[in-house]
Order: sequence, then structure tokens, then C-alpha cells
Amino acid sequence: MRRLVAQTRLHPADFILPLFIKETVEEPTPIASMPGVLQHTLSSARKAAAEAVADGVGGVMLYAVPAVKDARGSAGTDPDGILQRALAEVRAEVGDATVVMSDLCLDEFTDHGHCGVLRADGSVDNDATLERYAEMAVRQAEAGAHMLGTSGMMDGQVGFVRRALDAAGFQDTAILAYSAKYASAFYGPFRDAVESSLQGDRRTYQQDPANALESLREVRLDVEEGADMVMVKPALSYLDIVRQVADLVDVPVAAYQVSGEYAMVEAAAANGWLDRERTILETLTSVRRAGATSILTYWAAEVARAL
Ligand code: PBG
Repeated sequence: MRRLVAQTRLHPADFILPLFIKETVEEPTPIASMPGVLQHTLSSARKAAAEAVADGVGGVMLYAVPAVKDARGSAGTDPDGILQRALAEVRAEVGDATVVMSDLCLDEFTDHGHCGVLRADGSVDNDATLERYAEMAVRQAEAGAHMLGTSGMMDGQVGFVRRALDAAGFQDTAILAYSAKYASAFYGPFRDAVESSLQGDRRTYQQDPANALESLREVRLDVEEGADMVMVKPALSYLDIVRQVADLVDVPVAAYQVSGEYAMVEAAAANGWLDRERTILETLTSVRRAGATSILTYWAAEVARAL
């Protein structure tokens, strides 16, 4: 009877699997703070994407760690850069069988670790960063991404990127806007995964965990600027925001179950303190119940298979 009347169900196509590709590794390398998650080579990423498709996941989201980082994040706009190569390989492997997405942000590529380029005084230069994102977006679309994840939290980024894509002939490349992205401690393990060199924090451009209104404003602006889908991030500590956003907009809403959420459950399960599988399904069900139609989760392939 409980199954008959359940108001929330999980489906493999709800899930998006993040994949990390590192330019300098010879074989897939474990990430200490994210047990079970790997830094892939190009060929192992290709294989992982094919497996995720076989498991039925709705999308894959690619992140890359370049061999060389610099102040401008040059590798991010190099047509032969690691993210562009990974996109081309994964797209060649999976075609249109799942949605191939890429992270459109500079933090994996900059030596200072910020999501944008800096002014002489060290602050992030919003408008100069938009120019870098526009160029990156076109490179990623050329490489084969179906959908770009604008995760840098610069003001005006969705509209700016949309116009650049359209001008370059990529009207069909979609935008997943990380609209309500909080300045969260839960990103800790991710920064290991991409070997971030960030000093300080991102509080001048990411949202304040104390606030909801400014997130709703960001979401509204992104939809007006052309976002095809909006996202709330992290997920579990922000379910109230997920619900408010789902009630506000008529585009699909995604939530990102981030690295710290993953690591907490894995660590407790490894200690025998939590029932791992039940906990994972409970967290994902809660995020769906709150109103997200898609969930980025490092458990995407595993849960899709189990379902
Ligand atoms: C920025 C980006 C971050 C995450 C996804 N995209 C890190 C940040 O803002 O510091 C975090 C994802 C996670 O913690 O799983 N490119």
C-alpha cells in the first residue's frame, strides 16, 4: 500500500553524474575525501560515461583538472584543453543517448582558484570574467556539450553566455544555470577533486546561507536571461530553497547533492554508523520531494542501477 500511494518516486533519468577528468593522470586515481569517486583519464571517463548511459542516467557533468593553471584560466578556452578534449571523447562515445554537460567556470583552470579573473587588488572582476565565460562557452559547445553549467555566480552570466552561443550558431546548446549557489563548506571535498588552489572564500559572489530572498532574485534573473534549467546547490541543507524555487519558476529545477553531502554519508557508513543504501535513497527522495526534477549526485550511476 505504501508503494501504491507513494507521492515521490526516483527514476534513473532523474540523475546527473559528475565526472572528473585530470590531464596528467595515467590511470584513474581515487580522491581521498570522496571514497568511490575517481579522477579519470580520457579513456576511463569515456568508459564511465558509457556505463552511466547503460545504467540509464539522465546526464553527465564534466569537470576537468588541467596540467597547467594560470591567472586567466587559459586552459579553459584552449580548443585543445582537457575539458574540450573530454567533451569530444565523451560525446563521441555516447552521442545523444544522455545529456552531455560541462562546467562553465574558471576555478578549475585558475592558479588563484577563483571562479573569475582578478583585478590588481585581488578582487574578482565580474565583467572581465563574462568575456572569458563567453569564449569558454563557445569552445565547449564546439567540443560537443549539449548543455553548459554556468556555475561561476557572476552577475549577468546567463544572458552574456546565451548571446555568445547564439552569435556563434549554437542556438541549440542549452544552459543549466547554477542560480542559487551558496558559499558552502560542503564543497570541501570537491576542491580536493579539482585540486583547487583557492585561498580565502567565494563570499563576494556566492550566496549567504542565511538568506533565501536573494536566491529567488538570482533565479528570476537567470530565467529572464534565458536559463533553460535552474539549480540550487548544495541540496540537503537547502531543501527550503529548492521548494521555493520550484514554486516560483516554470523551468525544470535541479539540485546538486555536493561533495560534502556525499562524503558525510560515505564516512558514516564506513564506520558502520548509518545504513548506506537506505540513507542514500532517503536523501535523494527528500530532494525530489522538495521539488527538484533532476539531481546531480556522485551516486547517480549506482542508484540508477539499483533502481
Ligand atoms: C565551481 C564548482 C564547485 C562545485 C561545482 N562547481 C566548487 C566551488 O564553487 O567551490 C562544487 C561541487 C561539489 O562540492 O560537489 N566550478
